[in-house]
Amino acid sequence: MKKSLIIKKLRKMEEKIEQAVMMPRIGDPAPEFTAVTTQGEITFPADYKGEWVILFSHPADFTPVCTTEFMTFASMEEQFAKANCKLVGLSVDGLYSHIAWLRTIKEKIEYNGMKDVEVNFPLIEDIKMDVAKKYGMIQPGEDTTKAVRAVFFVDPGGIIRTIIYYPLSLGRNFDELYRVLIALQTAENFACATPADWRPGDDVIVPPAGSCGVAKDRMDGKEDIHCYDWFFCTKKVSKEDVLDAVKID
Ligand code: BEZ
Repeated sequence: MKKSLIIKKLRKMEEKIEQAVMMPRIGDPAPEFTAVTTQGEITFPADYKGEWVILFSHPADFTPVCTTEFMTFASMEEQFAKANCKLVGLSVDGLYSHIAWLRTIKEKIEYNGMKDVEVNFPLIEDIKMDVAKKYGMIQPGEDTTKAVRAVFFVDPGGIIRTIIYYPLSLGRNFDELYRVLIALQTAENFACATPADWRPGDDVIVPPAGSCGVAKDRMDGKEDIHCYDWFFCTKKVSKEDVLDAVKID
């Protein structure tokens, strides 16, 4: 074989490996794409400027775990919308399969007190796995043709702020996804961090003392905060203030 042909083949192999292992990280701009969805074409993240978005993948249409997840997400769509957050789903299936599955969910499936559920958020068609690969949603150790259950929280500036991955067999906890969204917004709104298992109304963590003087003042009780030690202080933010800042009534 000619040397130039071998080099060309090696380059192609390199490109394929790079694509297979490409994983966006927290703090990265969300990879851009234009895609066909059940709600028309979208250009991501440009179409969502100024809004939070949860971009999530699921393994396949007409599968039971995914059906429970879609019904749950669809019934919480308004709750997420009130927190300025849109939902965008993806699976490695075609548009007509998506449409047929969503119609079946609405017309036939009653589950966990939910029925007549209409999925109004876009579900991306990704037969060629172009988007799934850009987002590291295909994880070959789990499956080479189905996306894992990935969740990307993208902020109003198009930056990825949280990533969560679940395997095929494990349905997501949607209360936790909502908690993450509110915690991310609260950290920004109140310049704080949120402790383990935080929920609106719980104390938040204030940034670490930046000088010996501030550390001393805090330990001497000069600031309106509670210190467990000089490096670990919390302050009160009421549930009303948290929800008000997120603009939830
Ligand atoms: C499901 O959604 O039920 C499912 C999908 C792929 C593999 C296993 C379960």
